[in-house]
Amino acid sequence: MVKIAPSILSADFGRMAEDVKKIEKGKADWLHIDVMDGHFVPNITFGPRMVKAIRKSTKLFLDVHLMISNPLKYAEVFTEAGADLITFHIEAERNPEAVIREIRRLGVKCGVSINPATPLFEIESIIDKVDLILFMSVNPGFSGQKFMPAVLDKVKAAKKIIDSRNLNVDFEIDGGINLSNAVEAVGSGINILVAGSSIFGESNVCEAIRKFRETVSLI
Ligand code: DX5
Ligand code: ZN
Repeated sequence: MVKIAPSILSADFGRMAEDVKKIEKGKADWLHIDVMDGHFVPNITFGPRMVKAIRKSTKLFLDVHLMISNPLKYAEVFTEAGADLITFHIEAERNPEAVIREIRRLGVKCGVSINPATPLFEIESIIDKVDLILFMSVNPGFSGQKFMPAVLDKVKAAKKIIDSRNLNVDFEIDGGINLSNAVEAVGSGINILVAGSSIFGESNVCEAIRKFRETVSLI
């Protein structure tokens, strides 16, 4: 089953609780929360207090995407705030194994994210230690960017490795996902679709989620 994870980066920050309720009502599987620090990426979003506030307003699985420097230092506060999954960037960390150990110690799921320009071999030695790989299909920092189709070659190559090693790892894609490219992404091995502007850009969020589900269930 393919999961749909709307990204609240495209929500109305002044009406966050209402927008989260809409996503819940639309039966999204996960809620994707983009944490940016203005250092690892050229944008600033929100910190653990926002995650805590969202945690209070929903039972949805909280998929926290850390686009920050020093994820080792901050994994704990985001877990305490209510994250169910912490994903860090391979480009942000010299010692990814230490971050994975820390996230495991905290008792939540662990993901690693890889930017469009970063080759797959950078994560090859740790893919058997994570629950999820988050493939960025735009350069991280902003919603509403154009999908980079070349990333799907990396997804396919990673899928081959995962299958050959008989591993069970979720494949999530993030950036520019819409109804036109979702099918190809799933065909390449993706089982979790993050979507920001293509869901919140629609006047009816529930209907937008339903259309995504209908589109990918046709595969
Ligand atoms: C981008 C973020 C994404 C973003 C996706 O750096 O990681 O999660 O919200 O937004 P869209 O779907 O509009 O590209
Ligand atoms: Zn994201």
